[in-house]
Order: sequence, then C-alpha cells, then structure tokens
Amino acid sequence: MCGIIGYVGFREAEPVLLQGLRRLEYRGYDSAGVATLTGANLHVRKKAGRVADLADHLHKHPAPGCIGIGHTRWATHGGATDRNAHPHLGGKGDIVIVHNGVIENYAALKSQLQADGVVFHSDTDTEVIAHLIARQDEDDLVEAIRRVLPLLKGTYGLAVLSLREPGVLVGARLGSPLVLGIGDGENFLASDPSALADHAERVVYLDDHQLCVLTADDWHILDRDRTRITPEVQPLVNTAASLDTGVFSHYMLKEIYEQPEALENALRGRLDEANATAHFGGLNLEPQRLRQIDRIILTACGTSYHAALVGEYLFEEFARMPVEVEYASEFRYRNSPLDRNTIVIAITQSGETADTLAALRESKRKGHPTLALCNVVGSTIAREADGGVYLHAGPEIGVASTKAFTNQVAVLAMLALYFGRLRHLSSLQGEQMIRELQALPDQIRRTLSCHERIQSIARQYAWKRNFLYLGRQYLFPVALEGALKLKEISYIHAEGYPAAEMKHGPLALIDADTPSVFLVPRNSVYDKVLSNLEEVKARGGPILAIASEGDDEIAERADEVVYVPQVADHLQPLVTVVPLQLLAYHIALLCGRDVDKPRNLAKSVTVE
Ligand code: M6R
Repeated sequence: MCGIIGYVGFREAEPVLLQGLRRLEYRGYDSAGVATLTGANLHVRKKAGRVADLADHLHKHPAPGCIGIGHTRWATHGGATDRNAHPHLGGKGDIVIVHNGVIENYAALKSQLQADGVVFHSDTDTEVIAHLIARQDEDDLVEAIRRVLPLLKGTYGLAVLSLREPGVLVGARLGSPLVLGIGDGENFLASDPSALADHAERVVYLDDHQLCVLTADDWHILDRDRTRITPEVQPLVNTAASLDTGVFSHYMLKEIYEQPEALENALRGRLDEANATAHFGGLNLEPQRLRQIDRIILTACGTSYHAALVGEYLFEEFARMPVEVEYASEFRYRNSPLDRNTIVIAITQSGETADTLAALRESKRKGHPTLALCNVVGSTIAREADGGVYLHAGPEIGVASTKAFTNQVAVLAMLALYFGRLRHLSSLQGEQMIRELQALPDQIRRTLSCHERIQSIARQYAWKRNFLYLGRQYLFPVALEGALKLKEISYIHAEGYPAAEMKHGPLALIDADTPSVFLVPRNSVYDKVLSNLEEVKARGGPILAIASEGDDEIAERADEVVYVPQVADHLQPLVTVVPLQLLAYHIALLCGRDVDKPRNLAKSVTVE
C-alpha cells in the first residue's frame, strides 16, 4: 500500500528519495512521485507506473535540493494516473504533501473548498489536506498542520514541506505508520523502516496524534497540544541483506526456501524441554491470569486468518479451550458478547493491517487482555497489544505471504502447548509435541525437494481457469490458503473447501477442466478424504493429491501425486502448504504475472 519517504540533510534529496521508494515497492503501488525544494521553488515530479518510470522521468527533469518527500501510491480515490500521483500541491503551490491513509470526509471538505473558489488538480482525498494547510493564515508549518488535523476524519500518515519554512519537514500520524530515522547532519521520515535501511541506525516510531519536526541537524516529536515528547529511540534492525532476492528470481521463491530457517528462528529458545512446555518472553500475562482465561478469539485477515483457523484446531485439541476465529474486518464492527475471561489474539505479519489494528483496539477498549503474533518488530500492533510473540520470520517482501504463515502456525502450536500445559496436557504429551516441533525444519527442507515435480505439474495445469483446493480438519485452512495463493498471484479463480462439503454444491463445478487439489496425507481423516476424492474422480475432475511419503495407494487414484514427509496431524499444515506455495508460484510465472507485486494488491493493507 502507499509508502512515504522524506529527507532533509546535506545531500541531494532525489537519489535518497528514489532509493527509499525502491525499498517501498514491495508494499504494492501504482504510481510514484517526489517533491524537493530549493530557495523559493518546489519541484514536483510524479508518474503513474513503477518507480523505474519515475526515475526515467527524473533523468530528464531532475528535482534539485537537499530536502524532499517521496511517495508510492496505491490508488483509493481516483485512478492510477500522473495527476493523482502524490505529492500534491496546496494553495498557490507553496505547500506540498504526501499522504498515506484515507480521509473519509474529503468530499464534504472538497465541496466547501470548491465553494470558496479552490481549484483541484486531482481526484484524490489527499489534495484536500494540502489546500486546507495552505489556507491557514500561518507561516509556522507545524501550527498550520495542527489546525487542519482536527478537521480530518479518517487516517493519515503525512509528510509536508512549505516554501514558508524551507528547511523544515513535518510529519503527522493518525492510524497510518510513520517512523523517523536519525542520521548525522541529516534526518529521514518513512512509513516503513525498510525504507531507511542503509541510512539510519536509530529510529523513533511515532504514535497516533503525534507530529514530528525534522531539520538537517535536529528533530523532535510533539503531541497534539504541541508539547514536546521524549520518545524511545530504538536501533534499526538491519534488514538490508534480506532486501534483495539473492540467488532466487523472486522474493516469493526466496521466502518459500527460507521457511526451514525461519521456523528454526521461531522455535529457538521457546521450547522448554525440562518442563515439557513452551515459554515466551513478551506475553506480559502471569500464568495465574492465563489460567483464568476460558475463551480465545483469534482475529486476522487474509493468510493470517488462515493461520488463525489452524490455531483454532490446535487450541481446541491441546488446550481444550473454546476458540473463535474472526475476520478482523467483521469483528471490529460486531457487538459480540465476550465475557471478561476472553483473550483476543491478533495475528499479523505486518503489524499494520488497518482492520486487525482496529479489532485489537476495540478489544482493548472493552477491557480484554490482548496478544499480538506479529512479524514486523516495532509495528503498531506489536506496540499496542498488551503482550505478544514475534514470529521471527525475517522480512517478508513478496506480497504473497509464505514464511510468515509457517511461523504463525508454529507459534500458535507453541502457544497451544503452553496453554495446554497450564491445564490438563500431560508432560508426556508436552514432550512429544516438542520433539515433533523440533523435527519440523528438516521436514520442511525435505518437502522443498518436491520443487521440480511441482514445476512440471504446473506446466500441465497453468492453462486451467478454475481450481478447487480440498482438505479436512487441520488441512481445511490449508486448502483455503492454497486457493488464496493461486488467485492472488496468478489471477486464476480458485476456491478452498472442506472436502466433504463438495456434495452440498461445489461438486456441480467439476468437469475435465476443473482440477481439484486434494490434501490427503495419512491422518485421522485419511479414509474420509479418499472417499471425497473418489466422488470428484467419478465426475471426471482431474486430481492432484498432496500425500504422505510411502502412500502408494494414492498414486492409483490421483492423476498427479506430490509426496510430503509424514508428520503428526496437527503439523501437517506446515508441510502441505509448501507444495501449494510452489504450485501457485510456477503457475503465476507461466501466466506471465508479476509474482512479487501482483496487480491491485498491497503487502501491507493500511486502509480499511
Ligand atoms: O500483514 P498481515 O498478516 O496482517 O496481512 C494480512 C493480509 O493482508 C495478508 O495475509 C494477505 O492476505 C496476503 N497477501 C496473502 O498472501
């Protein structure tokens, strides 16, 4: 989704801004732009398309100056065009801004401004903010912005420059992340710390309703009353190495291959063999309090929601606790009766997903203890939850989530073990779970050897227009995840279903052109899934089975089989998801898609 980079210092801003924008590309966007300032001139350059298109444009029309702001835009209000790209000018062109988020009351504000004779040059909600700031009879930029912010309904991360205060860059945040990067004789502003890699070693994350004021030699943070805040200055975790694809052709493939190591990082130090349990540093809830919890709500979006569905089975089986899984976008507006011993766990890779954040805040407001399972360190959700567990998957750049899913499931399995051991789970069962978890990274390494086989299967199936993904119990969420992976990067229609539900409707879809991907490793429902598979086969549907090594029987029933290592039922999501990720990847490649940046999608969904 939209990205912001800002710079003030002693260097030319343009290359710094361009590099920051390239770092933000993974978030998903459809236009990009920069504005710099020299003397009494603002230089605005913007282009629909990729950052590379903007760079070409800048080559012909450079933007000089040692202060500037840049933006990658993911269209919300108005199409992906040059004129809607940020930055936007306000007034007579003496204010320039970039904005992440959505201004919900922009139409009313725009009508008022137009009635006063203001002429708009874009269809965006953002331009309203630029004009409002410019209209304040105020040379002090911070003061002008402060007067406008209460008029805005919605969310914003803003970076603003003004000809009236040429050496000053001001940022403001409500619901859309901003991070300040501290340099030596230069300072930076970004919506995502990855844009600051190579530049700043120390960062400050802004909280909602805060502003930041940056000059080349100084910076400070203000609250909405303009009182200076003493913020926590944190080291910037160096992610630069993860920010290129290395020997892989895409981030997605690299991240699929990183799964064994990412898993090792998630497990490291958290399995307590002596007590046959798991332990976590940041739960911030005493075992006595956790013991009183009698209901769990897991809330998330997209792939994280699928991990939550696996979590539901895990908590029910090992902790014997009732669990509900809620789409964060629904949960945030529902008035579900929750009693006071309900814990709400938000699951998110980015830690910035707008709906998940809103669901977390609503749960906190109602007084429920909250936990977050987050990948991005220092993200808003990680900071706002009462406690949490980091996923330690490392930066995930591909829009299609892969290693974050694996680590979410692994962390949920460890939490289920921990909650279970606070209750009835015996030490023998705990020890067994630990051994199974420890063996997983190598089992996933082995699973990756199916890559070539998947590649050749993809060649046969890439031209089909509809797919079904079918599984039961722990593998029903994996069916949903496999279908999501395929549709988001290949743009081919796919549905995930509990295998036995087919005969209640979807079986009507089956024909020789509709492949079904069956998740059928040996487990407690193996025979049941085989019957479901036969029902599809009897109707002429092609079948691709993901099965356990050594299962020769399945080869006679399915058109194609991909074998994965035999693991315990509750860990099968982790080994079966890998071939599905690879299948989606190869089909998308064959369809000529931009695998890491699929159309219309953003890595981090920071608008509602
Ligand atoms: O950062 P989050 O985990 O909160 O993101 C949630 C979804 O937007 C995300 O999982 C999305 O569905 C991915 N593109 C799936 O691959």
